[in-house]
Amino acid sequence: MQPAAPGPDSAKATAPAPQRIGVPRETFSGEKRVATVPEAVAKLVKLGFTVAVESGAGEAASFSDDAYRAEGAVIVPTAAELWATSDIVFKVRAPNAEEVAQVRAGTTLIGFIWPAQNPELMQQLAAAKATVLSIDALPRTLSRAQKMDALTSMAGVSGYRAVIEAANAFGRFFNGQITAAGKVPPAKVFIAGAGVAGLAAIGTAASLGAIVRANDTRAEVADQVVSLGGEFVKVDYNEEGSGGGGYAKVMSEGFQKAQREMYAKQALEADIIITTALIPGKPAPKLITADMVKSMKPGSVIVDMAAEQGGNCELTEPGQAVVKHGVTIVGYTDLASRLARQSSTLYATNLFRLSEELCKTKDGVIHVNMEDDAIRGLTVIKDGEITWPAPPLKQAAPPPAKPAAAVVEKKSGHGHGAGAPMPAKNLAILAAVAAVVFWFIGAYAPAAFLGHFTVFVLACFIGYMVVWNVTPALHTPLMSVTNAISSIIAIGALVQIAPPMLGAAVSVDGRPDSLIRGLAFVALVLTAINMFGGFAVTRRMLDMFRK
Ligand code: NAI
Repeated sequence: MQPAAPGPDSAKATAPAPQRIGVPRETFSGEKRVATVPEAVAKLVKLGFTVAVESGAGEAASFSDDAYRAEGAVIVPTAAELWATSDIVFKVRAPNAEEVAQVRAGTTLIGFIWPAQNPELMQQLAAAKATVLSIDALPRTLSRAQKMDALTSMAGVSGYRAVIEAANAFGRFFNGQITAAGKVPPAKVFIAGAGVAGLAAIGTAASLGAIVRANDTRAEVADQVVSLGGEFVKVDYNEEGSGGGGYAKVMSEGFQKAQREMYAKQALEADIIITTALIPGKPAPKLITADMVKSMKPGSVIVDMAAEQGGNCELTEPGQAVVKHGVTIVGYTDLASRLARQSSTLYATNLFRLSEELCKTKDGVIHVNMEDDAIRGLTVIKDGEITWPAPPLKQAAPPPAKPAAAVVEKKSGHGHGAGAPMPAKNLAILAAVAAVVFWFIGAYAPAAFLGHFTVFVLACFIGYMVVWNVTPALHTPLMSVTNAISSIIAIGALVQIAPPMLGAAVSVDGRPDSLIRGLAFVALVLTAINMFGGFAVTRRMLDMFRK
């Protein structure tokens, strides 16, 4: 047995012994996933942990004991031994009563605990003096936390699998085909709810060749639907559905009525409907009525991914695939488990990333830092004390508006510290110096130089204002700025190449200056390569996501 991590009173002179991570076989009926995979074991060992896996834990996900052993895990024969010898336990599902009874004081348990739905389990784990990190309680909007976001990984797998289940129950091709035996129209798929799972379903169905339409109450997902090859269908009612944190809210009666009308039309046309609509802490909204099911063509399929939360379809039977009014309604609640090898691998990576955060010293000893927003959110019980729910995340304060003068100052490299406005006195001195320089040049320089110099100064000023005031609508401000610079170069070059009456450069004898026009042409070619190349690269990147 590995010694438990030393408490705060332990002598600090000797380095604490590495902790043991234990991975039991999942006990929930039909659960095929496993909380770590051989590849992740190797990485956990590199972090300094020892890893024990219950014999046969990975079998249903096609990971043999030998594969774990090869990456440095110890295989223990029974769950009892595993729970008794592990300091940290990785699980997928929440522990059952038998497992809770084996939790020792000081054990850290990590898995899907769903504290809101399981208050009794929370009390039992607290009484066992455990520390519990519930992976579903991760604050998902923290970009730093995305690598640990198992809800997203599992939703992605489930969305994919929902399409595969639909294809299995559907008696036709997804893609349109013209064959010697006749013409086959493409299947029409309608997705209700375009969150993580819905978007995965859109991408999968589109890649199989179906015509995909989708709807969501949050208007912000419309672009994401289109980028994955779907068409966003709007509800004809003006109401925004965002309820904060990226999640939806319950919509008004008026919206729901308009949405039902639109869904009834889609049900008439669609061959397959996949529903994923959820609102945190509420029963799933009923979007597909019994009448809509009746109106669908015989042989159509509905996959209700919200079955566990009551279902989006009135006729769904959770955990079952049933045929009603000639329509197959799939209400499986174990979609991620049906792709066990894939979902286990993703989940194991999420837990490895979490282990990295918990063990920054890489000495095989975790530190549950309650000052860290992501770890605080996850920690639902700390040393036997219930710490759920975590306080709301501190919103990052919006950056203070910068006065125009301060922006000019910073960018020109004469800043007085980030964003600080230039004192009025300094501004006055600068203006006075500039005026004296201008007077000096005006008094002594040749007349032609003064004209050119004025144009040069104005051009610098206008160019600066144009470039730095471009709104970064593109993905990166850098791209927006380089595009603005390229545009200015293109305009300048065109003016130089144009006929003299339009302002092109002329030599002393009034004829077009071929050297300047030649240079302008080269500038135009180079800047065109930059602009069109940028568009081509962006397009190729977008295509990568469409595939
Ligand atoms: P979810 O599983 O709670 O809901 C699924 C979808 O159903 C959501 O898109 C929701 O808007 C939609 N929905 C709810 N009621 C509906 C109704 N009556 N009709 C039609 N659609 C309805 O949400 P999920 O997939 O877990 O995450 C939703 C969003 O959260 C993501 O799309 C993303 O914007 C955000 N998120 C952000 C993350 C981040 O910032 N790192 C990470 C994960 C999610």
